[in-house]
Amino acid sequence: MLPTVARPDAAVDATTLMKSYPGVQALNRVDFAVAPGEVRALLGKNGAGKSTLVRILCGAEAPDGGTVRIAGRAVDMFTPRHARALGIATVHQELSLVPELSVAENILLGRWHRSRRGGFIARQALEREAGAVLAAFGVAIDPAVKVRTLSIAQQQLVEIARGLSLQPRVLILDEPTSSLPASEVDILLRTIRALSDRGVAVIYVSHRMDEIQRIAHSVTVLRDGRHIETRPIAHASTAEIVRLMTGGPDAAASGPRGMRPLGDVALKVRGLTTAKLRSVTFDVRAGEIVGLAGLLGSGRTELLRAIYGLDPVVAGGIAIFGREPAGRSPRAMIRQGVGLAPEDRKKEGLVLDMSIAANLVLAAMHKVVHRMMLSRHRQAQLSQRTAARLSIRLARPSDLVRTLSGGNQQKVVLGKYLNADVKVFLLDEPTRGVDIDTKRQIYALLDQLAAQGTAVLVASSEVEELMLLCDRLLLMKDGGIVDERIVAQTSLADVMAIAMDGAHEAGMDGRP
Ligand SMILES: Nc1ncnc2c1ncn2[C@@H]1O[C@H](COP(=O)(O)OP(=O)(O)OP(=O)(O)O)[C@@H](O)[C@H]1O
Ligand SMILES: [Mg+2]
Repeated sequence: MLPTVARPDAAVDATTLMKSYPGVQALNRVDFAVAPGEVRALLGKNGAGKSTLVRILCGAEAPDGGTVRIAGRAVDMFTPRHARALGIATVHQELSLVPELSVAENILLGRWHRSRRGGFIARQALEREAGAVLAAFGVAIDPAVKVRTLSIAQQQLVEIARGLSLQPRVLILDEPTSSLPASEVDILLRTIRALSDRGVAVIYVSHRMDEIQRIAHSVTVLRDGRHIETRPIAHASTAEIVRLMTGGPDAAASGPRGMRPLGDVALKVRGLTTAKLRSVTFDVRAGEIVGLAGLLGSGRTELLRAIYGLDPVVAGGIAIFGREPAGRSPRAMIRQGVGLAPEDRKKEGLVLDMSIAANLVLAAMHKVVHRMMLSRHRQAQLSQRTAARLSIRLARPSDLVRTLSGGNQQKVVLGKYLNADVKVFLLDEPTRGVDIDTKRQIYALLDQLAAQGTAVLVASSEVEELMLLCDRLLLMKDGGIVDERIVAQTSLADVMAIAMDGAHEAGMDGRP
């Protein structure tokens, strides 16, 4: 086959890219070109090859074959440093900030010399420069604080700010909004539009179709490592995109849940108060799915953490099926049948350097240990069954979790708890980075769990998701529950309005 003709007008132009990993052809003869000022959405199911393409375009990984041209010139021996020098800024799917450094140091990482005269880094100058970047982006984060004190969403904003600070000609964003609430997503989309107007080429990976429809000029769909199609957004409805991604007809959209009979109170929270929570009181019944809605920093994650025994409780208490746990620690909670699938899968959810199979059975050791011995056979069986249930795309169950695509790692976090027979299941952003098809699978799985009597408490920044998944919503603000809605008796518009109201007020103490 003839090599594809180069496009001299393109900001980035890759032709016939090949990349394989053990057992997977991650990219197979992929052509991909983006023009200056164009916003291109890069789409595909979990494991389709999006992040692999991104890593090649920014020099983080070398292709096995094919050519990359930047502004018309072929690049060889391409490194991230090389890519940055050519004006390519990348925000990777996995957060890569240094927790012990300040926000300013992270934003200007590797470029400290700019504000350095003698041997010392002028801290104030650094913070001023980073502060200007954040302010231009419209985000209120103190440049002096250490990154480890930030929430995941704030860290994501800092990563993006770092990309913006490079004043790139090509900006690559790999799922930049996976943990951002609506108000922050708006800021980002506005920023992208402004950059595009100035001629910056933007490559945007996301599973959120509404964002794609709002921001992209064109879409490229990958499937199983192949380029399926690139077309203008005007000719790519969401249904059409899903069809291209999955290679089949659109899976039937699931409607909201019907009412179902509920069991006893499974989780009872009374006056729970921590450094971040003020006297939170509510119940979740067996078989019920309750959603926590609220803005960034409203206390959703803190509430789940406090229930699970991760944060010190100042006042108040909880009971599981009427029994108070003996002590407040994750151990005590696990013993009572409580599980938490955390937001930060890297830090708390997974052991990246253990196999996929081992991670999947981590919380269900009793099922795979026989007479004090780990049964490899049972581990393999159980993990294979779970992988199939969640359609985790893997080469071999014995591969390290690290080798999975972002979305597939998220599925392993959930899979781990599906095997653990939890009675009260706490989930923080369970579909972060998960493709649209898999989201529906996850909703169906949680629905099944509830039908079997599990109480589910789920925090999400996507109100639409909560409306599809939950029986009841609790709206959080400033560490407290400020409102409550039965999903069957409310509308998306209603819940959005409450959220917006919160956003309006949050703007007073947050953004400029
Ligand atoms: N370092 C690696 N070692 C082995 N396999 C890998 C590695 N990186 C990616 N893969 C495999 O390559 C395939 C493509 O992964 P990639 O991360 O590009 O998917 P993706 O489209 O970004 O998915 P997601 O939406 O889940 O982020 C997957 O099957 C993945 O398991
Ligand atoms: Mg990815």
